[in-house]
Amino acid sequence: MPSDDTNAAALSVRGLRKVYPTPAGDVEAVRDLTFDVAAGQLVCIVGPSGAGKTTLLKCIAGLMPPTSGTVELGGAPVTGPPKAMAVVFQEYGRSLFPWKSVRDNVELPLKVNGVPKAERQRRVDDALAAVGLDHVPQSFPWQLSGGMQQRVAIARAVAYQPKVLLMDEPFAAVDAQTRADLEDLIRTIWKDLGITVLFVTHDIDESVYLGERVIILSNSPTVVQEDLTIDLPAERDQLGTRSSARFAELRAHVYEQIQRAKQGSRP
Ligand SMILES: Nc1ncnc2c1ncn2[C@@H]1O[C@H](COP(=O)(O)OP(=O)(O)OP(=O)(O)O)[C@@H](O)[C@H]1O
Ligand SMILES: [Mg+2]
Repeated sequence: MPSDDTNAAALSVRGLRKVYPTPAGDVEAVRDLTFDVAAGQLVCIVGPSGAGKTTLLKCIAGLMPPTSGTVELGGAPVTGPPKAMAVVFQEYGRSLFPWKSVRDNVELPLKVNGVPKAERQRRVDDALAAVGLDHVPQSFPWQLSGGMQQRVAIARAVAYQPKVLLMDEPFAAVDAQTRADLEDLIRTIWKDLGITVLFVTHDIDESVYLGERVIILSNSPTVVQEDLTIDLPAERDQLGTRSSARFAELRAHVYEQIQRAKQGSRP
């Protein structure tokens, strides 16, 4: 985390457009997205299903090139998966290696990056404990429920200690109580490690609870419908924050904007 210039844009998305060529014709998933994320910010992205949220994250993660526009990370163009970035995918099941144990799945990126063994073990232990999976380290992903597999993917990203963490609807498959715990875990990690987090969700309450900022996307072909600052106190807790008057106002506002987005009304 750069300590000299905390306002520097960690991430800069400029005029991003993505068109998928298909046999049935071109699909314009993302039309024109421009936004910056400052280093150390926690930004949520919400938008209707099919709005292009996953497409956007894949372009930011350097997994596919935009049709036009640019993505920059720390001032350098993203042309492939950046080392300082970790991604938790929406299709988490496919991102785990079925022949490796839970522990080995979490440890692998650390091994690849040459983290010494003792530190690797500590980081894997801490991450598994943080997601409540310290009792199944020798299990294989296919022996776990969907929600548990998702927590393995989250533990892997957490253990990696990236500078930028991208998450695509990471809690979709977990139960409500675990989800609340994981939301608080993300905020704790974000604060403790000072990382930049981009968190995609279609849960409006979750976006307001987690974010310092919520970027609301329009229907596809996608533009930024609204870029909203979440002016809730930095200390959040599941009961107090969610029952506050300001939380209710903010969630109502995001809800209205998404309804407008679904109806195709442009900002
Ligand atoms: N590989 C692909 N080829 C063709 N079209 C695609 C491809 N991937 C996505 N699309 C289309 O691009 C649009 C945006 O898809 P994307 O998966 O990015 O949306 P999303 O906002 O993540 O949706 P959800 O909330 O359901 O996850 C959709 O119309 C989708 O059908
Ligand atoms: Mg998606």
